[in-house]
This record gives sequence, C-alpha cells and structure tokens, in this order.
Amino acid sequence: MSISILRSFGMVATVVLGTTVGAIAQDIPENAQAGAAEFANSCASCHGADARGAGFLTRLFRGVDPGDLTQLAANNGGQFPTDRVYQVIDGRAEVAAHGDRRMPVWGDRYWETAMSEYGPDEFNQQRARNRVLELVFYLQAIQE
Ligand code: HEC
Repeated sequence: MSISILRSFGMVATVVLGTTVGAIAQDIPENAQAGAAEFANSCASCHGADARGAGFLTRLFRGVDPGDLTQLAANNGGQFPTDRVYQVIDGRAEVAAHGDRRMPVWGDRYWETAMSEYGPDEFNQQRARNRVLELVFYLQAIQE
C-alpha cells in the first residue's frame, strides 16, 4: 500500500517539477521507482531534481555543498557506499553520535509516519527502514 501511495506522490511531483523527473524515473529499474518518487518529494529541494546538488534550498545554505549524489560510487573507488548512504539518510545513529548536521533526519520522520499508521513496533520500524532503503536503491540506480 505504501508503494502505491508513493507512486501517486510521484505523479504529483512529476507534474510539479516538470519533465526532468519523469525522464529520470523512466530509465530506472523497478525497485528504484518508489525511491525516485520520494526523492522528488523530499530531497530534490536541496539536492536538485537530477541529484547533482542544485536544489533551490541549497542557495539558502551558502557555503554548504550537498554534493553530487550521482558520483557517490565514483568517489568511493567505484563501489556504491550502501551502508554509509543508508546511515546518512536514516540519520538517527549519526545524529545521536555527533549532534548537529544540516541533512534532515529522515529515519525519525518515516518512523513517525509509520507510527501514525498501524501495527506493532517491529512492523512500523520495518516500514521506516523500507522507505530509507527505497531511496538507497534509487541513488544506486542513478550512479554514473
Ligand atoms: C534541507 C536540505 C536537504 C534535504 C531536504 C535533503 N538533503 Fe541530503 N544533504 C544535505 C546537505 C547540506 C548534505 C551535506 C552533508 C551535511 O551538511 O549534512 C547532504 C548530504 C546527503 C548525502 C551524503 C552525500 C555524500 O557525499 O556522502 C546523501 C546520500 C543525501 N544527502 C541524501 C538525501 C536524500 C535521499 C534526501 C531525501 C530523503 C535528502 N538528502 C534530503 C541537504 C539536504
């Protein structure tokens, strides 16, 4: 069910953001589609619709470069850094360790959304984890 909700968000995002997002979404594998929709909704504002770091919010963070998310593998010796990307997006462990950072803590947000749905804690935790994983799959799919 959450995937179909994400897909309909994606359709809205495609309309709002224009054809760039639609063009990207068509080229990516099935398991990255939900992540593509979520990226357009929650991440493109800072990271840019093409993930290269030109989102309008980055202009508010003068001097903070969110990086080019299509180069994560290239900058890591050709290996997509799955664990690190997961940790950065989830963010909860890192924030507990270091306190301050600019990247929003998505794990908490997804966890709150899951809690407002239903089910025992471990199901909700799994839902929050899946939403982060969908984004990891998407970022992996757009590596150059
Ligand atoms: C409010 C602006 C903002 C939003 C929204 C945002 N990010 Fe970020 N992101 C940043 C900044 C700034 C950095 C650079 C590191 C830092 O300052 O925390 C970053 C870093 C990252 C990195 C690490 C890049 C590297 O080189 O290691 C990843 C991966 C990432 N973001 C993914 C995402 C995803 C996925 C989303 C959506 C769920 C998202 N970001 C939403 C601002 C944002």
